[in-house]
This record gives sequence, structure tokens and C-alpha cells, in this order.
Amino acid sequence: MKALVLAGGRGTRLRPLTHTAAKQLVPVANRPILFYVLDNLAQAGIKEVGIIVSPETRKAIEEAVGQGSRWGLKTEFLFQEEPLGLAHAVKVARPFLGQSPFLMYLGDNLIGSGIGEFGKAFTAGKFDALILLKEVEDPSSFGVVELDGQGRVLRLVEKPKHPKSNLALVGIYFFSAEIHRAIDQIQPSWRGEFEITDAIQRLLEMKARVTGHVLKEWWIDTGKKDDLLAANSLVLDQWVGRQLEGYVDKESQVVGRVTVGRETQILRSTVRGPVVIGERVLIQDSFIGPFTTIGNGSQIVHSVIEHAVILEGVSIENVDRLEDSLIGNGARVFKDRTTRQGYRLHLGDDSVVEL
Ligand code: TTP
Repeated sequence: MKALVLAGGRGTRLRPLTHTAAKQLVPVANRPILFYVLDNLAQAGIKEVGIIVSPETRKAIEEAVGQGSRWGLKTEFLFQEEPLGLAHAVKVARPFLGQSPFLMYLGDNLIGSGIGEFGKAFTAGKFDALILLKEVEDPSSFGVVELDGQGRVLRLVEKPKHPKSNLALVGIYFFSAEIHRAIDQIQPSWRGEFEITDAIQRLLEMKARVTGHVLKEWWIDTGKKDDLLAANSLVLDQWVGRQLEGYVDKESQVVGRVTVGRETQILRSTVRGPVVIGERVLIQDSFIGPFTTIGNGSQIVHSVIEHAVILEGVSIENVDRLEDSLIGNGARVFKDRTTRQGYRLHLGDDSVVEL
């Protein structure tokens, strides 16, 4: 089976970060989200992957992923000039996909399980679509699926005002070549996009075989800041071990599951896991609390940080308490030591904030 990964789009909801970076490459526990997607494909035994890229994401995604040999994959980049919807991306990929069944995976989605079992169920059941579902609290911001008493898919609606169920469509779908026929029959939605939900709804009307599986593990669509922080916390909580490669002086304490990269120095500080700290980082006279990721080359001096994602080359100095924050590459946050307050920040790349 082939895979189609969607890594185009504009990423408007993660601005300002996505002014300068593709959202699929924003790191979670210091690894781009897209890399977890590719891990999952490789683990499921997939070999050929088409990756949809846009004018905004193309260069960075191609550089980060390359030919895919790191995963034992063979990648092909497919250029979608405008983000005209998920079903439009499938149209763009048609020459790559041919008549092959395929797995479509949104490049900004993270799940807490593998996908191999779903692939087997899709093939064994000779389905035209196998869709993954997850119960959510606010279904009106997702594609929502209604099932009948036997768990059969009845209807799909994109972002309904009055949702009839709390089952959201996860961004991972298995399709047979029938999906192309369905896509040819749909029109753009009110927001001007060719919606994959409409195409799957069309499959149902064509009496094609569509089945849904409710995901038991967690699922996060990392399109917004708080989702990204949640993804960071889950990955740190579940997948990070203890590995100290840098230097920790005698006056510091590093407690629990903490990863410290090469050439990093921790001086007169406390780090309480789960935490990931990259390479060439300086932590001095500071407290780094649980669920924090600090990117390569950053400096944290005389500060307290908890539940935050700090990207690369960031400098934070004299900040009493920084939490629930996402700080872009090269940002500087510093404070006059006489003021005392808490802050909540969402900063773009190269921002400078003086508090
Ligand atoms: P979305 O999050 O729905 O769209 P977006 O990236 O444009 O984000 P925003 O709403 O913040 O502007 O897209 C889900 C995934 O699919 C994401 O990885 C981008 C990708 N995508 C495409 O590759 N092509 C498209 O036409 C669209 C709409 C999305």
C-alpha cells in the first residue's frame, strides 16, 4: 500500500510560528511532528510515500525529509499550488497513486498508537474507506461522523453547527481507488475547499464499503498552540526516557525522565522531568519544570519554566515564571528583576520581548 502525507496548507492558526516554518515541522519533544508520522508509516510496513507540499512548506519539508532513507521509505514530493482542500490534495496526487489503495495521513496529526492493525483490517475487509474516529468534547470544530446502532457509518458532516455525535474524524484514512470517483463528483464547500468528508459521504451514497474505527489511544491535531503543548506533554509523558549526555554540575538536580543533549550545561539548577533539553543549551540558576521541551542552542538563565515548548536559539533571562508557552526560534524574553508577575506567551520566530 502507498501512503499520501499532507504537508501543504498555510498553517494560519499557528501564526506567527508558521510565517517562517511549516507547521508539520514544528517540534514536539524536539522532533518535527512529521517525523512521528513517517515513523508510523514505516512501522506499518509502508514503503512508498507521496508528500503534498505547498509554496509555503515545500523547501523546508523537502530539506527535512529528503529521500526518506532514514525511515527506509521512498518519498516523492507532490506540489499543490493552493490549499484547495484535502480532497483536492488527493486529486493532485492521482498520478502518484494510480489505482493503488492508499493510506492518507495529515502531516500535523499525532496519535498514541501504531496504524498497522487498521491497515490489516482495511485490506482484510476489502473496504473502500476505513476511517478513524475519536470522541471529542467540541465536535463542531471537526468533521463529525454519525454511526448507527451497529457502528456502521451513516453520515459525515464538516464542522456542523449542531453536531449529532461526538465522534470526530481523525486525520488518518485508508482508501481504495473508489475515492477518486467520489472526489470527481463533489463540489467545493462554502469555504471554497474540496472536503474529504464530502467525498466520503459521496462514497456512502455510492453504496461503497465504508467503515469506522474508534481510536482508543490519544489523538492530537496540532494546528493550534494549546494542542501543540498538549501533544508535547503526551509525548514527553509516554515516550521519553532518561538520558544525560551534557554536563550537570554538583549544585544541580536532575530528577526523573530527563533527556539532555550533547554540549549542554546545567549549572546551579533543578530540572524535573519529563523534560527534553536539546544540544548546546545553557541552563543556569533556573528551574525547569515538567512537560517542557527546550530546543538546541537556547539559554535559560535565572528563570522558572514549566509546561512550555521553547524552540531553537531562544534566550530567556530573569523570568520568574513562564508557563503554557510556545516560543519561536531566536526569540528573546528577558525581564527587569524588580517586577514580579506571571506571563503567558505565544511568540513568533525572532521576536524580542522585554518584560
Ligand atoms: P488544515 O489544518 O485543515 O489546514 P491548514 O494547514 O491550511 O491550517 P490553518 O487552518 O491553520 O490555515 O490542514 C490539515 C493538514 O493538511 C495540514 O498538514 C495541511 C494539509 N493540507 C494540505 O496539504 N492541502 C490542503 O489543501 C489543505 C487544506 C491542508
